[in-house]
Amino acid sequence: MPLFQKKTEAPRELPTHIAIIMDGNGRWAKKRGLPRTAGHKVGAEAFRTIANYAKSIGLRYLTVYAFSTENWKRSEDEVSAIMELLEKYLREAIRDMDKNRVRFCFFGDLSRLSPALQKEAAEAVERSAGYEGVQVNFCLNYGARDEILRAARAFAAKCAAGEAKPEDLTEAEFSGLLWSAGVPDPDLIIRPSGELRISNFLLWQSAYAEYYFTDTLWPDFGPKDLDAAIDAYNHRSRRFGGVK
Ligand code: FPP
Repeated sequence: MPLFQKKTEAPRELPTHIAIIMDGNGRWAKKRGLPRTAGHKVGAEAFRTIANYAKSIGLRYLTVYAFSTENWKRSEDEVSAIMELLEKYLREAIRDMDKNRVRFCFFGDLSRLSPALQKEAAEAVERSAGYEGVQVNFCLNYGARDEILRAARAFAAKCAAGEAKPEDLTEAEFSGLLWSAGVPDPDLIIRPSGELRISNFLLWQSAYAEYYFTDTLWPDFGPKDLDAAIDAYNHRSRRFGGVK
């Protein structure tokens, strides 16, 4: 039974929004003498398990970093293997959608992806729009700096068209111009694989997020690891700049 469901302990607070950097697939494969793509395959399964678990515990939002604006620098073979896996995953997710009730959303510029992947993504969003389970935000061709630049350009264009004034821009309005418009900021950001950096992920939205780092590689990350992260989150004192 997951830690935070134990009846004997004080009830644990479930974050509203958890974001995860799905890192460590390549190293997981290397440790086993396998090609990096084998790690991505197991990583995709780890994602499926975590998404279902997130739904089962009642999490509202799960955001996963699956492919960054910088990940195109990887070898052509690796990039196409990741894209194929994502396509397959989404196809299966669409097939199982009525059962899973997971709502899909995408953060990132999908126009650079293959037409097949764009089609699977659009179908997943459309089919799942009314589902009440966890909302999964899939960050694909996502970069936080790119996201902020796009929002700045969009606002500048409104100003140039005479529809807005620079001095009237608020944090709330700016948030509404990001890919994450309408989604509450992440409470907890998890990075597996032992790296202690954020790698261009949710820079605006993470202003007051709690971070959790673990050496576990993403393919090995399971429900008990998510429980451990939520447990750690429950020991943090969030003050948002105020005093408790
Ligand atoms: C950020 O670190 C990590 C990511 C953007 C996740 C990368 C994961 C994948 C490409 C595989 C996901 C695919 C599936 C199918 C689960 P980084 O490596 O981009 O940046 P860094 O160089 O700073 O570590």
